[in-house]
Amino acid sequence: MSELHTDERREEEIRQGESELYPPPQHVLETAHVSAEDYARYRKEGTENPVKFWEDRAREMVDWFEPWEKAFDDSNAPFYKWFVGAKTNIVYNALDRHVKTWRRNKIALIWEGEPGDRRVFSYYRLWQEVNRFANILKGMGVKKGDRVTIYMGRVPELPIAMLATAKIGAIHSVVYGGFSVEALAERIQDAQSKVLITADGGWMRGKIVRLKDIADEAVKRSPVVEQMIVVKRTGHEVNMEVGRDFWLHELQQLPIANGTCETEVMDAEDPLFILYTSGTTGKPKGVLHTHGGYQVGIATTLKWAFDLKDEDRWWCAADPGWITGHSYIVYGPLILGVTSFMYEGAPNYPYPDRWWRMIEHYGISVLYTAPTAIRGLMRFGDAWPKRHDLSSLRLLGTVGEPINPEAWRWYYRVIGGERCPIIDTWWQTETGNFMITPLPVTPLKPGSATFPFPGIVADVVRDNGEPADPGEDGYLVIKHPWPGMARTIYGDPDRYVRQYWSKFAEQKWYLTGDSARKDEDGYFWIIGRMDDVIKVAGYRLGTAEIESALVSHPAVAEAAVIGVPDEVKGNVIYAYVILQAGYEAKPELEDELKKHVRHELGPIAVPAKIEVVDKLPKTRSGKIMRRVLRAKAMGQPVGDLSTLAD
Ligand code: WTA
Repeated sequence: MSELHTDERREEEIRQGESELYPPPQHVLETAHVSAEDYARYRKEGTENPVKFWEDRAREMVDWFEPWEKAFDDSNAPFYKWFVGAKTNIVYNALDRHVKTWRRNKIALIWEGEPGDRRVFSYYRLWQEVNRFANILKGMGVKKGDRVTIYMGRVPELPIAMLATAKIGAIHSVVYGGFSVEALAERIQDAQSKVLITADGGWMRGKIVRLKDIADEAVKRSPVVEQMIVVKRTGHEVNMEVGRDFWLHELQQLPIANGTCETEVMDAEDPLFILYTSGTTGKPKGVLHTHGGYQVGIATTLKWAFDLKDEDRWWCAADPGWITGHSYIVYGPLILGVTSFMYEGAPNYPYPDRWWRMIEHYGISVLYTAPTAIRGLMRFGDAWPKRHDLSSLRLLGTVGEPINPEAWRWYYRVIGGERCPIIDTWWQTETGNFMITPLPVTPLKPGSATFPFPGIVADVVRDNGEPADPGEDGYLVIKHPWPGMARTIYGDPDRYVRQYWSKFAEQKWYLTGDSARKDEDGYFWIIGRMDDVIKVAGYRLGTAEIESALVSHPAVAEAAVIGVPDEVKGNVIYAYVILQAGYEAKPELEDELKKHVRHELGPIAVPAKIEVVDKLPKTRSGKIMRRVLRAKAMGQPVGDLSTLAD
């Protein structure tokens, strides 16, 4: 773990944001699910007795086939359990229960493709599609506990495939459609998925992403896959291997693909999904979430933080392939029975007002996105959003990295028309749900995620566990378990203990990996990752993964990767490489290495700059001193070099 650091940029942002306060607007105070008084009471009760708080929510937010015997079990810490003995299935709460009510004919999902095509699903229609898909999976022999890997663009079949997998008690592992061959192969291998669900391609910026080609190559590297289901999206010619690959639309014609399917009764602690994310070292880790606690966490946080109501049109502009999409595109909104919108393509395609046009057209009332998207769209100027009537919006949200006050204010003023509170949600793949976030009634400071959600006991502490003073940087920790938390790292429980529970083992606190500070008013200010995780345009990447992609090229002997601040993307990747003997540093080589990383990991992992060096700064124990590289990249003094080997 590297030292606590605050970069100058964030320091300046906090200084600006701290002095501003935006009180909640009147319309919020009058109508929010959680009033200012209730909020204060819930925060107090949730901190004093988190177990009781979450037990109340578990009764209120979702239905159970059978109640729990014990709400919280810490007998095998840190492998905590919630709602022990309860029977449930998240898909029952997301779909089955709604088709028995008036919501049967309510719109569940509105989807727009990048070329402009549209599809709309009522709850009944979505339920039926999920049942048909579930029956197809069953027909292929998928059983409770089996892992199914899903690799697709943002099309409705992605949530449908996830829900179908969960409905029959299998475990989904979604791999983001922007990842490429090695990233996919590694994740298939780790999960040992026999079935892979993919598409021929996806639309992105007017071009086809050739997903099936990538899937074919990945399966060659990880031959555990026995069957592939392929969604026809782009319609271009693809290789279909007889006996292994099947078009979804053809499978749907078979008698087994009928529209009703029993929902598997699951234990609250049975696994729901694995989602791979980057950690400090080595290969990506499969974060595991369960059916019971997870649904309570996401339903409560979504309903309270975004105040969702039946008349809302919710747009979470993330990708279902990341945790934000799992929790707040797929499961959360469906559990609450709201109408969601999903869009396939790029925000600025064909013009920079694509998003604003769609908000107007569909009457979106709540928009949830990332700072990088806001900064990217801000760059095109106010004229593009101002061309559209955005008055349907009532709340805005942001996630993924700290938001700078400048982008916050623009979002607030130009997009939200100064009437929409900005819900800045801090959380992680591992936490499952929002952890630090305002509610609509919270007075806001631009750039602060404000306070821990009720029932979440978060704090900023020193290396020795003492609470940090106001204004002092420290480790962001969670001091009491919560229902939506990850249960383990798939296949590697030791790593789970080491990574999250060993730094403050004695106190039994969860280590987030972020540094933060609290101000005099108790507002939390996230500073950033303290480990070798880089947030690039809000995407979470590990330096180790990118380095190993680089060294898999024959020209590269050694590589070191760092994140360097960037105006729009938050961070960009810089790579330093030592070449193998016999290779020369030529300009074409940099391009070739970039192409190689794109092919292995995907476009999001491509370094902005690759520099050939003779040596890398290392400690005597051989660890790369990224701090030194970062200082060099930013033209700053390198500081203390006493631990440098050479
Ligand atoms: C960062 C994304 C500041 C943080 C949901 C965390 C944030 C990592 C915020 C997790 C925020 C997320 N303000 N930083 N509102 N939200 N982060 O697992 O560094 O992809 O540890 O989950 O994103 O990234 P992950």
